[in-house]
Amino acid sequence: MNSVVKDARKAGERVGLTAESITVRGGNPLRGRIEVRGAKNLATKAMVAALLGDTPSILRGVPDISDVQVVRGLLGVYGVRVTDPSPGELHFDTAAVEKAHFAEIDAHAGASRIPILFCGPLLHRLGEARIPDLGGCRIGDRPIDFHLDALRAFGAVVDKSYEGIHLTAPNGLKGAEITLPYPSVGATEQVLLTAVRAKGTTELHGAAIEPEIMDLIAILQKMGAIISVEPNRVILIEGVDRLDGYRHTALFDRNEAASWASAALATHGDIFVGGASQAELMTYLNVYRKVGGAFDIEDDGIRFYHPGGELGPVTVETDVHPGFMTDWQQPLIVALTQAHGVSIVHETVYENRFGFTEALVKMGADIVVHPEGMPNVPRRVARRAFEQSAVITGPTPLHGADITVPDLRGGFSHLIAALAASGESKISNIGIIARGYEHIIQKLEALGADFVLEG
Ligand code: EPU
Repeated sequence: MNSVVKDARKAGERVGLTAESITVRGGNPLRGRIEVRGAKNLATKAMVAALLGDTPSILRGVPDISDVQVVRGLLGVYGVRVTDPSPGELHFDTAAVEKAHFAEIDAHAGASRIPILFCGPLLHRLGEARIPDLGGCRIGDRPIDFHLDALRAFGAVVDKSYEGIHLTAPNGLKGAEITLPYPSVGATEQVLLTAVRAKGTTELHGAAIEPEIMDLIAILQKMGAIISVEPNRVILIEGVDRLDGYRHTALFDRNEAASWASAALATHGDIFVGGASQAELMTYLNVYRKVGGAFDIEDDGIRFYHPGGELGPVTVETDVHPGFMTDWQQPLIVALTQAHGVSIVHETVYENRFGFTEALVKMGADIVVHPEGMPNVPRRVARRAFEQSAVITGPTPLHGADITVPDLRGGFSHLIAALAASGESKISNIGIIARGYEHIIQKLEALGADFVLEG
């Protein structure tokens, strides 16, 4: 069994999904109601923030996904007592936080990228941090240079070895002026989680301002932090001596909501996404409407549906917030294979995030990827070297195929392509999808999908 297959299996097993593959009989519209809970990309960070509190924290709306289980396991290694008195609610007691043995930390190597965010909180609480090899989706190099440079600016000493990364702070952590070369979500979180208890003020320039970052700031403020978000991607953090626990309900998962919305469009379906809200999805909703999708915004969620008639092509570029998220393009591309005309999707955040389109081509889609990108697209932030463009010509009927899931968002798009296609598809490595999509099998059932699990 190769390492990708093993990782996929482990990810699935963490949330009770033991099947290795799913065989889908496509051609039926997805119809019904599903609920989305807290965002993977917030809940996991909120869990790390609990480590900074001297008193217990309570997080609600926590999704049952394997990334949450990985972070829970790692918190346990450091002596944080994590309990779940009811579904979706986690309690964190930090009274007995202690140093961990490397072997225990290393058992979490390769499972997620979140461990890098333990650096600041561990340095504050224990004076040192050991970080295992990171995991996460294989969608490019995914370096951590911005993280390590920021930690060094606070006074951390970073040693890299074959065992991972070891950090110490011989003179404590002090507020710093930091400019990120790109508004990285993770590096912004790193700075926030470190600056809140550093001595003095931190001025962060070039910060990411995604809604998940704002929700993390809200949590830190509940804990006692002083953080102000200034114009032009500047965040000021005044360090405090002590933080308490928090009580918080996680922001809904807008990436999951957008995924189901695209699934409704691709399968000619009608899906009510309970828990979704408009403000965080505005950019997505504009594109959805331009393609020809319809939506009704209600107080408790959003209904997404194919209103009949022809879908039209669009040109979109992924971007940092408030742009079109890089995590939204994969399911949308499946819907665009059914639009009449030529659509173009420019990926500007990651250097290698169109690999999943190969499987769609195998299923009958007409997608050409330009690995060097295409010129003359205006950018929200300074242009980066990494850029790719996908040109999608539709409509093309999709037919079933055997597919191996490459990454989280790509995997979800394969699933909905199979549901939209005529005939049968076998999709392997489905555990990867469980890393970020809660109760995926139950939700497919609720929406009337026709499938069997195997392996
Ligand atoms: N980058 C660097 N150096 C760094 C950090 C980032 O060059 O030290 C580059 C990355 O390689 C990438 C770009 O900066 O090209 C943006 O990366 P960012 O740091 O913003 O991404 P991230 O924090 O690693 C989070 C989400 C991703 C989401 C991105 C962009 C989590 C756990 N992951 O990743 O989510 O795509 O922000 O919004 O929050 C997913 O959910 O499937 C997923 C990949």
